[in-house]
Amino acid sequence: MLRDTQGELIQTAKLAVLGQMSASISHELNNPLAAIRSYADNARQFLTLNRSDKADENLGRIAELTERMAKISSQLKFFARKSSGTLERIKVQPVIQTAIDIISPKYKNTQTRITIHNELPEPQAMADIIQLEQILINLINNAMQAIGSSSQGAIHIRTEQHAELLMIHVEDNGPGIQPDNIKKIFDPFFTTKKTGLGLGLSISARILESMNGQLSCINLETGGAKFSISLKAAE
Ligand SMILES: Nc1ncnc2c1ncn2[C@@H]1O[C@H](COP(=O)(O)OP(=O)(O)OP(=O)(O)O)[C@@H](O)[C@H]1O
Ligand SMILES: [Mg+2]
Repeated sequence: MLRDTQGELIQTAKLAVLGQMSASISHELNNPLAAIRSYADNARQFLTLNRSDKADENLGRIAELTERMAKISSQLKFFARKSSGTLERIKVQPVIQTAIDIISPKYKNTQTRITIHNELPEPQAMADIIQLEQILINLINNAMQAIGSSSQGAIHIRTEQHAELLMIHVEDNGPGIQPDNIKKIFDPFFTTKKTGLGLGLSISARILESMNGQLSCINLETGGAKFSISLKAAE
């Protein structure tokens, strides 16, 4: 009897993991997919205008993004295993810039401005580039969604070094996180959005843990939310 129950529990847990994996796959592939769509539309327009140079530029971007999607899908094995990836010394600024470039087409109709502020000229950390990019994409997406269509929207991404830690803060001036929800936002599938999966933060926190880092958040006194990534700084 006890055995049956245990067997069922294991089976249920396996099914839950499977469900979570398929949802996270679509989540992580949707951003580059949206960017590809927009680059393809632009390429078409450039072709009708006989601007083949510009069309070619857009096709180049599409090629880069499909490359990225292939990398992501190979990373998904890593999610499943939850083993630690290879940490290498990376420059943080270009990773932040790439995350912004990937997200920008999706929000091209908003007025929200994203600004990067680096305390050190060339911040470096021990991390995995693709995974750090995914985390930043999730945080910037959330910030953009929190700000919505406000014309005063601003996102500030700040890097600073605290002893052995390299911190990346993503601050927005949206409505902030409702106090009742602050404990739940890292739970898988917790969402307050109509079309949200509630996976962005839980996946991000899990990836960061596997990089020996952490994700935390607070509401800013000025309004808005601040999410902080901490990573081991590179020596
Ligand atoms: N910058 C933010 N400002 C205010 N609330 C936020 C912010 N970021 C996250 N939240 C809250 O945390 C919840 C969980 O975020 P999470 O990214 O995990 O899922 P989601 O954005 O709802 O869906 P998705 O799976 O598409 O990311 C959000 O639904 C929202 O209520
Ligand atoms: Mg999200």
